[in-house]
Amino acid sequence: DVLPKGVKALMDNGLVTIPGRYIKPPSHRAVKHLIVPGVEIPVIDMAALESDREKFVQTLCKASSEWGIFQVINHGIPVATMQGMVHGVLELFDLPIEEKMKYYTEEVFVPVRYCTSMTPSQETHMEWHDHFQHYFSNREKEHPWPEYCRRLASSYVSSVRHLSQTLMSALSEGLGLDSNCLAKSFGDSEMILRSNYYLPCPNPDLALGMNGHTDSGGLTILFEDQVGGLQARKGDLWYDLKPIKNAFIVNIADQLEILSNGKYKSIEHRVLVQPDQTRLSIVAFCNPSRDAVIGPLLELIDEQNPLLYKSTLYQEHITNVYTKYLDGKHSQKLQIN
Ligand code: SIN
Ligand code: FE2
Repeated sequence: DVLPKGVKALMDNGLVTIPGRYIKPPSHRAVKHLIVPGVEIPVIDMAALESDREKFVQTLCKASSEWGIFQVINHGIPVATMQGMVHGVLELFDLPIEEKMKYYTEEVFVPVRYCTSMTPSQETHMEWHDHFQHYFSNREKEHPWPEYCRRLASSYVSSVRHLSQTLMSALSEGLGLDSNCLAKSFGDSEMILRSNYYLPCPNPDLALGMNGHTDSGGLTILFEDQVGGLQARKGDLWYDLKPIKNAFIVNIADQLEILSNGKYKSIEHRVLVQPDQTRLSIVAFCNPSRDAVIGPLLELIDEQNPLLYKSTLYQEHITNVYTKYLDGKHSQKLQIN
């Protein structure tokens, strides 16, 4: 079988209608009357951390319980660092297709991955985006990726890692526990940087940029341009998230929902595509070590708060996500019922 080369390669060849493999069945398409436009999700001001830590923790805890997704402003990461990263990533997508295909793989834990959709060989209906993924780990600092990527990414990643550690400490305190308890459960945490490139789509109503899903890792820190298209689901409704310039969007992922025994919510989200605009998002997944066993923190369990999730090896959780829950089905947090 010929490997799919991605959406950009299709468009560069002068495509005018969407190929059948990208057409979602009606049940998966976005339904207009179920979309709430232009919603401002909670905004977390990092500057408030210095002035009143307790209040900051409360606000963060509320946003993580009621929404599980929020925007972060005054995060202290220089705009130049974020813009540098954006330029570097755009340069990657602009490489000749033969260059990009050298990195084509469906493997997750490789230093550099170029792919389209999620796992094309397993999907009947693909997602309208291409992506690059860079894998980082505390144990192996040196990865053989292209020199220009490494330079740009390393300052971005250390900034984002620091932000994630600050948020995880506050989230731990929000549970009434020691500030290092969530980080401790993650073990030697790993970070994956995923850059998603959503091209304009000739039939945007028939496609999705990304299927509805919850993130399987720990904490997700996302930087997006001003195009918009990211939506989060509460009940039957999809909330259209309004981009804030130079803010990060942060969402609680499955492992933090599990560790908090359901107090923090891993919210489902998806991405719509536009007829006339290209969207870029750069997503940092701050994940537990693959050999961490993640289950609810026992300090949170008592008679009023029964255990809600099973403990799972994080590696196993990931394998399940990438092999069993494709085509818009969701990852299962193994709930005890
Ligand atoms: C993601 O959910 O990983 C990407 C979302 C986005 O592109 O905004
Ligand atoms: Fe996601």
